Amino acid sequence: MDDTVVLSAPLFSDMESEESKALFASMVPVELSRGDVLFREGEPGDRLYVIAQGKIKLGRRSSDGRENLLSILGPGEMFGELSLFDPGPRTATASSVSEALIYELRHQALVQWIAQHPSVATTLLGALARRLRRTNETLADLVFSDVPGRVAKALLDLSNRFGETNDEGVRVAHDLTQEELAQLVGASRETVNKALADFATRGWVRREGRAVVLLDLDRLERRAR
Ligand code: CMP
Repeated sequence: MDDTVVLSAPLFSDMESEESKALFASMVPVELSRGDVLFREGEPGDRLYVIAQGKIKLGRRSSDGRENLLSILGPGEMFGELSLFDPGPRTATASSVSEALIYELRHQALVQWIAQHPSVATTLLGALARRLRRTNETLADLVFSDVPGRVAKALLDLSNRFGETNDEGVRVAHDLTQEELAQLVGASRETVNKALADFATRGWVRREGRAVVLLDLDRLERRAR
C-alpha cells in the first residue's frame, strides 16, 4: 500500500513501472513519531523525501521566536527538493504532526536519475509551479482576506488532503493543535478559535479535538472567497 502512495508522487509520473520500481527501491524508509524533527531551517540538505503515511509540517521561525507554518503535507507529497534545485540551506523546518513513514532519496541519486530520464525534470517543474501558485494565493490571502476567511480556506485545503466523506459531511483529521492551526492561518490562537467557534455556532463545522467535521461546504467556500 505504501508503494502505491509513494509511486503516485510527481517524481514517478511519466515513468515506466519497472523504472519507478527501480527508483523506489533505491529510497530509504524513515519512521517518525509525532513531534520528531527531520531537519531544521538553515541546515545543509542533501536529500528529499516522499510521504507514504502521516503528515509533515513545514515551518519557519522568526527571529523573535514566532512560528509560521508554510504547509502541511500528506501521503504522496514530496519535500526537501529546494536545496537541490537552488543549492543552499533548508528553507524550512520539517517535523511530523503524526506518526509518519517517509522515503528519502539523496539529491545526488535524483540528479543521476534526471540525467537518464529528462522528462522527470518537467514533472518536477510542474510540482514546483503548483507550489508557487499556492504560495502566491496564500500571500494574497494574508493581505486581502480576514482571519475567518483564511480559517475557512485552511479547513477546505486540509479537507482536500486529509478529508473523509461521511453521512454528515467531511471529517478532517488534521492532527494539529490549536496553536499549529493558528500558525498555519497566520493569526493568533485566540482569533482563530473565535472564528472556529463562530463557524460551529452557525452549524458549518463541528470540532472534535484534533479533527473537524465540515458540515456546510457551500458556506465555507463562500466565506473563503
Ligand atoms: P528545502 O528547502 O530543501 O527544505 C524545506 C522544504 O520545505 C523545501 O525544500 C520545500 O520542499 C518545502 N517548502 C518550502 N517552502 C514551501 C512552501 N511555501 N510550500 C510548500 N512546501 C514548501
